Amino acid sequence: MRALRGLHLLRSGGGVPELRGAARRGMAQVPDFARGWPHPSLLGGQLPKMLAESFQQGLPYAEETLNYGSPYGHPKFLESLAGFLSQQYGAPVAPETLLATSGASMGADLCIRAHAKAGDICVFEEPTYYHAHSFARDQGMELKGVLMQEDGLDLKELEELCVSTGRVRVVYTIPIHQNPTGVTTSEAKRQGLVALARRHGFLVVADEAYQMLNFEPSQVKPLFYHDDPAEPRVLSIGTFSKLIGPGLKVGWVQAHRQLLQPLTKVGYFASGGNTVTFSSMALKHFMDSGQLSQHLAFLCSELGARCRLLCTRLRELRVEVQEPKGGYFVWVKGDGTRIGRGPL
Ligand SMILES: Cc1ncc(COP(=O)(O)O)c(C=O)c1O
Repeated sequence: MRALRGLHLLRSGGGVPELRGAARRGMAQVPDFARGWPHPSLLGGQLPKMLAESFQQGLPYAEETLNYGSPYGHPKFLESLAGFLSQQYGAPVAPETLLATSGASMGADLCIRAHAKAGDICVFEEPTYYHAHSFARDQGMELKGVLMQEDGLDLKELEELCVSTGRVRVVYTIPIHQNPTGVTTSEAKRQGLVALARRHGFLVVADEAYQMLNFEPSQVKPLFYHDDPAEPRVLSIGTFSKLIGPGLKVGWVQAHRQLLQPLTKVGYFASGGNTVTFSSMALKHFMDSGQLSQHLAFLCSELGARCRLLCTRLRELRVEVQEPKGGYFVWVKGDGTRIGRGPL
C-alpha cells in the first residue's frame, strides 16, 4: 500500500508557503489556503435566523441550564443529540453514550487527559491535523508517528511500535475525510485497529470532525460502532464546528460508559459541571425541528461543488489530485509554486 509521505497539502487552509507569500505580495486573486475555516458565506443566510429561533426555544429551560448540572451535559440536549445522530448515522445512539464538550479539540484533550499519563505514548497519523500534537504533549506524553496510507494507518508499523515500546496508551486517528490527506480509513483497517487496541491495551481517540460532511451518500459509521461494549477501547469525537460554525464550540464524545465516566472526573468538569450546559441547549430546537439536517444537506452540496471545482482547476494545472469524498481537505502532489500561480 502506497504511503502518503512526500505529498503536498492543499486545504481550504494552508501548508503551501508560496501561496501565503503571494497573498502577502498583494495577489488578490490568490485564495488564502492557510486556514481550515468555513467560508463566511456558509455562516450567513438563514442560519443566524434559525439559530436565533432555536436559542429562544431553549430559554424556558434557563432555570436548569444556567445552573450547575450533570457533567455529561443537559439530559434534554443529549436526548436531542442522540436523535439527530441516530438519524444521520443510520444507527442507534443511546444518550448515555454521549458527553457534551466545547468542540472536538476539547473532546480529544479531555479523552487523553482522563485516560493517559505522562510518559505514556500517544501515536499520531503521519501526517495529521497540525494542532493535534498539543493534546498529548500537554499531558507530558511521548509522541510517535505512524505512516498514513491510502486506506488509513499502517497497522503493521503500529503493531511493531506497540511491541517494541510496550507503552502505547492512545492512538489518535481522524478516520474519516482525514485532515490533511482526505483519506477515509477502510472497513478492514477499522476492524484491525480496534482489534490491535484490545490486543495491546491502548485506547483509540477517533476525531470524527468531518463524519457528517459527505459529498455523496456514505455508509461509513463512527469508529464507536466497531467497539465491543464488554471491553470498550474507542472514544468517538464529534463537533458542530464544521456543521454549523466553529465559534459555537459545541461538540460531543460518544463512548461506552466505562470510558466516558473518567472524563467527568477531570477538574474543570468535576468542579463546574459540563462546560456547554447553557449554550448546547440553544441547539435543541435546531436539531428537533429538522432544520439542522436541512442545513447540513445544503452544506454538503455546497462544499462538494466547491471541492469539485477546486479539483478540476488543479487538474487543469496538471497537478495530481486525490479527490476526497467529503470534509475540508484536498491532498495534491506537485510543487507548491506551480499551484500558487494557478488561476483559482
Ligand atoms: C481533525 C480536526 N479536529 C478538530 C478540529 C477543531 O474542531 P473544534 O473547533 O470543534 O475544536 C479541526 C479543525 O480544523 C480538525 O480538522
